[in-house]
Formats: sequence, C-alpha cells, structure tokens
Amino acid sequence: MIHSDTVLPVALVTGSTSGIGEAIARRLSQEGYAVILHSRNSAEAGHALSRELGAAAYVQADLADDMQRVRLIREAVAVWGRLDVLVNNAGISRVIPHADLASATPDIWHELNEVNVVAPFRLVAEAQTALREAAARGRPGCVVNVSSHAGVRPKGASIPYAATKAALNHVTRLLALSLAPDIRVNAVAPGLVDTPLTADWTQAQELWRTRSPMRRAASPEDIAQAVAWLVASDYLTGEILLSDGGLNLT
Ligand SMILES: NC(=O)c1ccc[n+]([C@@H]2O[C@H](COP(=O)([O-])OP(=O)(O)OC[C@H]3O[C@@H](n4cnc5c(N)ncnc54)[C@H](OP(=O)(O)O)[C@@H]3O)[C@@H](O)[C@H]2O)c1
Repeated sequence: MIHSDTVLPVALVTGSTSGIGEAIARRLSQEGYAVILHSRNSAEAGHALSRELGAAAYVQADLADDMQRVRLIREAVAVWGRLDVLVNNAGISRVIPHADLASATPDIWHELNEVNVVAPFRLVAEAQTALREAAARGRPGCVVNVSSHAGVRPKGASIPYAATKAALNHVTRLLALSLAPDIRVNAVAPGLVDTPLTADWTQAQELWRTRSPMRRAASPEDIAQAVAWLVASDYLTGEILLSDGGLNLT
C-alpha cells in the first residue's frame, strides 16, 4: 500500500498484531506517528488494525529470514518515504525448565537467536540510512528494542530465551555507542506482561501477584508507555529500562 507524502513522523513496530507490539502501535499512533504494522502470519489482524488507526500500513515478513527482513525495511520506508522510529518488539520464547539442559537443543538456540537477536540487529542495519535522515530533519532517529528482565537477571522462560535477551541488551548498548548522535538506541526490559504469549504462565502470574512490589503483572499498555517515553526523550541513549513492577528488588 503506497500512501501519499505525510508530514507525520513514521514508526515501524515489529510484531504489532497482538500483545505488547499492538499496544505500542496504538500508543505511537495516539502520539501522532504514522505507524507501519508488521507480523509473521497474522495479516488479517494487521490490516484490520491498520484500517482502525488511519495513518497506518501493514507489512508481513518472517524475521527468521534475512531476505524478508531486508524487504520489510524497504517496504516500510517506501510507504511514506521516511522512517523515524524502529521498535524491535517481535520476539519468540520457549518454556524449558533451566535444569533440563537436554531439552534446550541447538535448533532451539538457533531459532531464538535468529528472531530475538540477529533480526533486530539486521533491521537496524537496513534502516540505518533512513534513521540518519531523521536526524538531518532535526530529531535523532530512534530505535527501541523490547528485551526482557530475563536478560538482566538469571531468570526467565528458558536459558536460551534469557540469553538472547541478554545479548539484545548488549547489542542495544553497542549500537547506541556506534550510531550516536544521529540515532538513539534504547531498550525496555519487561517483567511479566499479560499477553497471549503468557496466558498460561500460571506460576509466573502467581509470583508477580504475591511477590512483586506492585502486586501485578504489567499490562501491554504499561510497556507501551515506557517505550513512548524513550521515543520522546531526545537525550537518552544506551539505556535498558527495566519495567518489572519492582520484582528485581525482592
Ligand atoms: N509477554 C511477556 O510477559 C514478555 C515479557 C518480557 C519480554 N517480552 C517480549 O516482548 C515482545 C512481545 O511479546 P508479546 O508477549 O507481546 O508476544 P506475542 O503476543 O506472542 O506477539 C508476538 C508478535 O511477534 C510476531 N512474531 C513472532 N515471531 C516472528 C517472526 N519470526 N517474524 C515476524 N514476526 C514474528 C508475532 O506475529 P504472528 O502473530 O503473526 O506470529 C506477533 O505479532 C517479545 O520480544 C517478548 O520476548 C514479553
């Protein structure tokens, strides 16, 4: 879908047909961004949300595939001829007890690493030129990676998942250093968030209800708010914003 030129800044939010990504897309739309929605399979949901938001378009791409990553950025930039913000939200998880080393197979390590680490890096690499042009228009380009508290503490759905999010946090800092001052790079590291991904994570839900200082899991909107703050703050770069209701304090 090609739109005519817009004066609105443009944000691409990966994995924005459900959960946290959908909330981020809605929030950035409310804040005056034209939004590029994206997912792997759920094209119908993407097109429906695009119609609802108005200044929005949907692009489908499997982020496990490098050619599709490159196409996603090319098509996203082509819609309005600019890209100001990239939110690397899409991610996958596997639940494996940490002591069950045999179940964390090389295939699982590879699959999680491709989608959770390599894809965000490659999207930044492909979007770099467009994001630098944002700086030339007066505001630095902006990347926000959605990582996890599991990348900060020795916790999480599985060791491979936690390790990919720790890697994403480090990539965030390394890119912040390499791309400044034209492009800012930050991350939000959520604790438990109520989304389709975690609907049956009953133990984690109980933990957040009973042990976390805020006594609840985050809503997708809580995380979208944190992302919006990072997008709005032109001086912040290289930050990993932990948003876990204070569980790390206990
Ligand atoms: N929920 C939590 O408690 C929690 C906590 C910490 C961090 N996070 C992180 O937050 C992010 C979003 O999580 P969520 O709970 O909102 O997940 P979700 O509801 O399962 O949504 C995931 C989104 O990512 C897309 N996606 C997954 N694999 C993809 C691939 N290979 N290529 C392209 N798109 C892909 C999905 O598209 P399709 O639906 O089309 O497959 C979907 O739009 C993830 O990075 C996750 O690790 C979540």
